[in-house]
Amino acid sequence: MAVSVDHTSEPTRRDFLYIATGAAGAVGAAALAWPFIDQMNPDAATLALAQIDVDVSQIAEGQSITAKWRGRPVFVRQRTPAEIEEAKQVPLAELKDPLARNANLTADAPATDENRAVPEREQWLVMIGVCTHLGCIPLGQAGDYDGWYCPCHGSHYDTAGRIRQGPAPENMHIPVYEFTNDTTIRIG
Ligand code: FES
Repeated sequence: MAVSVDHTSEPTRRDFLYIATGAAGAVGAAALAWPFIDQMNPDAATLALAQIDVDVSQIAEGQSITAKWRGRPVFVRQRTPAEIEEAKQVPLAELKDPLARNANLTADAPATDENRAVPEREQWLVMIGVCTHLGCIPLGQAGDYDGWYCPCHGSHYDTAGRIRQGPAPENMHIPVYEFTNDTTIRIG
């Protein structure tokens, strides 16, 4: 049987422009979709950053360091007995935010000093160093409550990182973490 050739199916210049535009559109959509796909399939490097180990052996009582985890600062402080006692003395009713904001506990855990640390390691305060108002990084051992002070709009946090005065609505958040030995904290 003879095959008829339909010359009208050859792409015209107009068709070509349409195809080219369609292709560019597809590339654009792929580029847009990539960040979402990337988030759903974290590669090894991303997974590695999801957890960090922090060596706290060199942090003496009364000293802090700032680690970086998932792009954010994490304050790690070995509190003094006086700082712990000061935090324990605060009645819960005086707290602006009554919740512990501790990812290691249930969401409704109260903001006692004990709940701001992990059991038997209450001298260690590990928290995301981001002001819960608009995200500035507070200054350590500053402010009216001997804890942290955010100079952006004047938020004062106490020695357990709880908001006591100023516009910040929540205590500084505590990430998931654990001690893997006496001197190593695994965050994430
Ligand atoms: S960002 Fe800290 S007080 Fe506004």
